[in-house]
Amino acid sequence: MNRSAKALYAAALGCAAAAAALLAFGAGDASRAGDDALWAQAQAFRRPDALPYDPDLPNTQRIALGEALFRDTRLSGPGTISCATCHDPSLAFTDGVPLGRGAAGKPLARHTPALWNLAWGESYFWDGRADTLEQQARGPIEHPLEMAGSVAEATARLGADAEMAARFRQAFPRERGMTADQLVRALASYERTLVSPRTRFDKWVAGDAAALSPEEKAGFALFTGKAGCSNCHSGWAFSDRAYHDIGLPGDDWGRFGQLGLGAADHAFKTPSLRELTWTAPYMHDGSLHTLERVLDHYENGIVERPSVSADLPRIHLSADERDALLAFLDTLSSETPPVPTPLERLREQPAVVGEAVLRVTQKDKQFSPLAVRIREGETLTVVNDDRRTHNVRMDGSDGAFDTGAQEPGQSAEIHFRHSGSYRVYCGIHPAMQLAVEVMP
Ligand code: HEC
Ligand code: HEC
Repeated sequence: MNRSAKALYAAALGCAAAAAALLAFGAGDASRAGDDALWAQAQAFRRPDALPYDPDLPNTQRIALGEALFRDTRLSGPGTISCATCHDPSLAFTDGVPLGRGAAGKPLARHTPALWNLAWGESYFWDGRADTLEQQARGPIEHPLEMAGSVAEATARLGADAEMAARFRQAFPRERGMTADQLVRALASYERTLVSPRTRFDKWVAGDAAALSPEEKAGFALFTGKAGCSNCHSGWAFSDRAYHDIGLPGDDWGRFGQLGLGAADHAFKTPSLRELTWTAPYMHDGSLHTLERVLDHYENGIVERPSVSADLPRIHLSADERDALLAFLDTLSSETPPVPTPLERLREQPAVVGEAVLRVTQKDKQFSPLAVRIREGETLTVVNDDRRTHNVRMDGSDGAFDTGAQEPGQSAEIHFRHSGSYRVYCGIHPAMQLAVEVMP
């Protein structure tokens, strides 16, 4: 077939498709309108087209160094394991077992999570005890049960390797000497690039109506409707990045250990639901081996106690509904073992400019506006107009602040004495972030 014949053929196919669509429209008018409404709803799950702004702009050498370090066993005390031993890139950055074992050969207290989409996180670990990926990376290296080493020793060991030392110099061209701080920054830069790949669900959200089957669409409708999953598994990564008690049995206190608030007892970070097919078993204790068991938990397994999340509905699903929900969850996973989105497809978002207001609201787990600009000496009022208990906080030596349990209806006043950039957040729902720029 020559080129113009090919074009004609394609046009003819297009006409046939249009005619078929017209025919189908008469019959399925109502279902198409339903589809459109569902699709409109799905826009809340659309992928961002860029990585969040990173003040410590990494270069490609630094990211490549981070990847090499991630796989380097010299980071562990005995030199036997690396980050990749537990977060195996060929197993979607998990270890495939309920509880992994570290350098000491003993089982760990919690299940190894996958490492997708960390660049959007505000706190790390199941209980959020690390505020940044840089801080997080020190944890496993120095934990006696995990890598049983020290960041300083690992840096010295790597520094003795001339090729490694050269890679550090290239990765941090404007800095003097090779430091432990650079080691964790390189690891963190690499981890921020672990963005889960596009799946069929993303194709549908982007406008390809045929990318999901009617059953999968019905599953999405349940997910955001009757089953209430999106109360917590929201946004494109399917996590509100908040801490909830979903009523799993066990005596791990989770986020309570960090906040000391009853509202955070047994609360763990909502995991992303991307690439679930490849990341079993599930939950902070690795106790549920299949997605069927996860649904059993949400239907019949909830341990009733005061700390159970206000966002957790009590549900019952028919056999067909369960099948549809499982079919939908499948569309969030790659069809072959997932590999991170290539670096050249990750753009970066610009920094946000704040609004000049003195009052901020908290409805639906979100500060509004997200960024404010005020003057030195002014007081910001943060009003809880949500139906949830929040815990407004600010860290740092200059004006650290903590409301404790801030119940619906209560306001908090934060006084800013000095100019600078501040970050206000909720301890229970740390994805609630408010950037405060205080001008002199
Ligand atoms: C022995 C197994 C093991 C090794 C080795 C290990 N991790 Fe982990 N990792 C875990 C476990 C278990 C958790 C969850 C612990 C918790 O939440 O209390 C975790 C949590 C994390 C998290 C938090 C993810 C999230 O969603 O909050 C990150 C990031 C991470 N590890 C990165 C690393 C890096 C970087 C290294 C190497 C320096 C590393 N891990 C080495 C087992 C391991
Ligand atoms: C109240 C908030 C909330 C609701 C509602 C909710 N989840 Fe979860 N989900 C969580 C939290 C928190 C965890 C982690 C709990 C833990 O490990 O202790 C979790 C864990 C999971 C996991 C395990 C993921 C992993 O990587 O370990 C799956 C799968 C899951 N939820 C699916 C669902 C589905 C399907 C629904 C709807 C039927 C749902 N969730 C409803 C908060 C919620």
